Parts: sequence; C-alpha cells; structure tokens
Amino acid sequence: MTDKWLELNKASWNERAPIHVRSSMYDIDAFRAGRSSLVNGELDAIGDVTGKELVHLQCHFGLDTLSWARAGAKVTGLDFSDTAIAAARDIAAEIGVDAEFVVSNVYDAAKALGRQYDIVYTGIGAICWLPDIDAWAQVMADLVKPGGEIYFVEFHPIEWIWDEYLNPGVERLTPGYDYFTPKEGLALHEPGSYADRDAVTEHNDTVQWNHGLGEVVTALIKAGLRITELKEHDTTMVKVWDFLEEADNGLYKMPADRPNLPFMYTLRAVKG
Ligand SMILES: C[S@@+](CC[C@H](N)C(=O)[O-])C[C@H]1O[C@@H](n2cnc3c(N)ncnc32)[C@H](O)[C@@H]1O
Repeated sequence: MTDKWLELNKASWNERAPIHVRSSMYDIDAFRAGRSSLVNGELDAIGDVTGKELVHLQCHFGLDTLSWARAGAKVTGLDFSDTAIAAARDIAAEIGVDAEFVVSNVYDAAKALGRQYDIVYTGIGAICWLPDIDAWAQVMADLVKPGGEIYFVEFHPIEWIWDEYLNPGVERLTPGYDYFTPKEGLALHEPGSYADRDAVTEHNDTVQWNHGLGEVVTALIKAGLRITELKEHDTTMVKVWDFLEEADNGLYKMPADRPNLPFMYTLRAVKG
C-alpha cells in the first residue's frame, strides 16, 4: 500500500506542474530566451561545472536542471511527478539541451539512477515534502561520488512559523506554526498554488514537514558527509510580504526599519 502522504503529495504536484509551466512566476519565455533560473548564487558558489556530472533531486519541471546544463554540466533531473518530468523532457527537447529526466520517489533515487555523480544538487522547497530526513541524507550520500560535492539551497525553517507566510498584504508577523513538526507531519489544505493564486485545483491536501537546521545537519553528518559550509541568508527569491525590499543581489530582504530574518540557507558537504 502506498503511504498516504506520498499519494496526497504526488497528486498535488502532478496537478500543479502544468500550472507552473504556464505561470508568470516561472516565466518560461525568459528561460527559453536564455535566462538562468539559478538565482541564488549557485553558479558563483560551485564555480565551473563544465563536464561535471550533476544530479538534481526534486527537479520539478527542470528549469534549474537545464540551467545547470546550459552552464556546462551533464545533468540528470529526478522527480516523482510524471507531469513535471514530461514537461521537463519537452522543454529540454525544445531548447535543444541534452538532459536525462527520471520519474522516481527521492527515497528510491539511488536504485532508480543506479550510479553516482560529481555534484548532487537539491532544495528550494524540496525537503518540506519528506518525512524522514535521515533517509534523505543517506540518499544524498549514496548518490555522490567519493570526492564529490552536495550543494543544497533551501528556505530557512524559521520562514515556516509565520501565520502570515505567503500572505503579502500583512504588516505584522505572528508565529502561528510549530518550528518542530510532529513526526506524522502537518496536514495542509491549500487550493491554488504559490505560482498562481487563482489557479483552480482539485488536489489540495498535502502533508509537509518543517525540518530544523539541527536536524538536517545532523542527518548529513550521520550519513558520513563532511559539511564544509552552512550559510544563512537574509535574502529570499520570493517576495513573501509586500514590505520586503529588493536587495543588491536582485532577491528580497527585510527593510532596514524592521528586525532582519534569515530567509534561506545554503549548505555544502563533501564525501571523503
Ligand atoms: C517546490 S518544487 C522544487 C523546487 C524547484 N527548484 C522549482 O523548480 O521550483 C518541489 C518538487 O519536489 C517534488 N517532490 C515532492 N516530494 C517528492 C518525493 N518524495 N520524491 C520526488 N520528488 C518529490 C515535487 O514533485 C516538486 O516538483
């Protein structure tokens, strides 16, 4: 029997992937015209990826995966949503970029892919869909070659606690959600999508988990990886509240007259 969380989350993502392909937020026309969707400093952080084998876990419909390919990497994207992977394959063919896309639950990735990579990349709204972070960390470790690197960009877990998260018009923030999600996860009912609020959707129930920084770091260490960098960033790619200001890097940050907050974090780890 399939786990309930897996069934619910997959149905939700299968419905939303085509909506996202059409959305102005993902702006596929700009991507087609050559814009990289890697806006969180990934390319500067990792450096030259020419010829490197890179796997992108939870790749959605592949824009970030294909951006790595345009930067020179030999890429594989993996996601459990077959509608997302079908769209990724179409986009790759359309723009003439070589990429492999695989449909699989991330927990089965090592078996589905059957090989290891120089770089394992993931994040940006990825681990909140996963109940077991220790098993996830083991997948990351299994997929990276000895001497290879893991690069992870994720929304900071503190973002999840606000009642007003993704409610742009608010003035004040109040904590409304636990930082530490119970083991069974948080059952959410959310019609529409972050990329298109007005989208009419049917599969609106999901189960999600907020994984704290300590939990993630400890899981990666237990999986035998050596963490080389953990950075918390005061900027975010999503303008979650109207009062955020544009930062120098083109992302958004708290205005100077409000206490600052971490919005995202990046983590690097190596095997061996
Ligand atoms: C917010 S998206 C990832 C962000 C991506 N960088 C983007 O383009 O916005 C989350 C992705 O995780 C995938 N996903 C969720 N749970 C998964 C699982 N258990 N195994 C594989 N993919 C999963 C969803 O299908 C979705 O494409």
